[in-house]
Amino acid sequence: MKEISASACAKSILFGEHAVVYGEPAIAVPLAGLRTYAAYTPGIVGIFSDVLPGKDLSNEPAVGELLRLFSETIGISEPLTGTLRIRSDIPMAAGLGSGAALSCAILRCLASLHNLRMSPEELNRLVYACEKIYHGNPSGVDNTVICYEQPLFFIRGEQQHLLDFDLGDLPLLVIDSGIRSRTVDVVSDVRAHYDTLSPVIREIGELVRSAEAVLRSGDPALIGQLMNKNQDLLRALTVSCRELDELTALALREGAYGAKLTGAGRGGNFIVMAKDTDHAAYLRDIYRKKGLRVIL
Ligand code: PMV
Repeated sequence: MKEISASACAKSILFGEHAVVYGEPAIAVPLAGLRTYAAYTPGIVGIFSDVLPGKDLSNEPAVGELLRLFSETIGISEPLTGTLRIRSDIPMAAGLGSGAALSCAILRCLASLHNLRMSPEELNRLVYACEKIYHGNPSGVDNTVICYEQPLFFIRGEQQHLLDFDLGDLPLLVIDSGIRSRTVDVVSDVRAHYDTLSPVIREIGELVRSAEAVLRSGDPALIGQLMNKNQDLLRALTVSCRELDELTALALREGAYGAKLTGAGRGGNFIVMAKDTDHAAYLRDIYRKKGLRVIL
């Protein structure tokens, strides 16, 4: 029997996290080399992951809802008749969209099991419904970039537009601080202080609107400058932390053009714009020697 399997990528927000929850734009990119995999085999009915041995994920509220929505969408009562085995290279609670990637990989695998092709729009609708269970009030940027697997200029509730730049052309690093933090907690803290933080949120929006043209220029120095400004604003939003401040400052001391956190913050991953590919290799080495996982 042919193996039925599917996968979904991680993502990184280059500009605009948090502000995107309040209707400002964000720019996000897929990380195609970092993925969650789902493979189907006949056997016990359930969804099992390497990370949580023995636990059937189909009993989790978000995954249960995903199965229900899938059944409803395609009009069947039993979406899963065997085992879905999940393997993921994406660190959890680390700002890289691991939850949306899990949902997307599961749906793609189920669609393949039922000989269906789901469009990115359909996938996105279902994954977003599931994100709402994980995060409460997600902007939708994570699920959208992951389901389309394309760089994106995203505004909540509006038709997103795909960006045609290639991340591979930039000397960009993605590094895991190793600190875990829950998106839902950081997002609700920002909401609790919305009245005082709203000017910062609007300023992030302005910055992201100028970032699209800067990204198109492909100039690492200019992109890096904007990353630094965005990081300053994220610090003002109180979503950075001492370790992220130190790790991004280290990049700048070592000559990087820019560095900022990516995702919800207070831990998770940060991104660094090096001067060129040799400089990127030099910086990667520095962080690896500190025991950090270099994602890109
Ligand atoms: O940390 P992640 O990968 O869940 O990204 C969260 C991005 C936020 O802008 C902070 C929240 C959102 O819903 O867009």
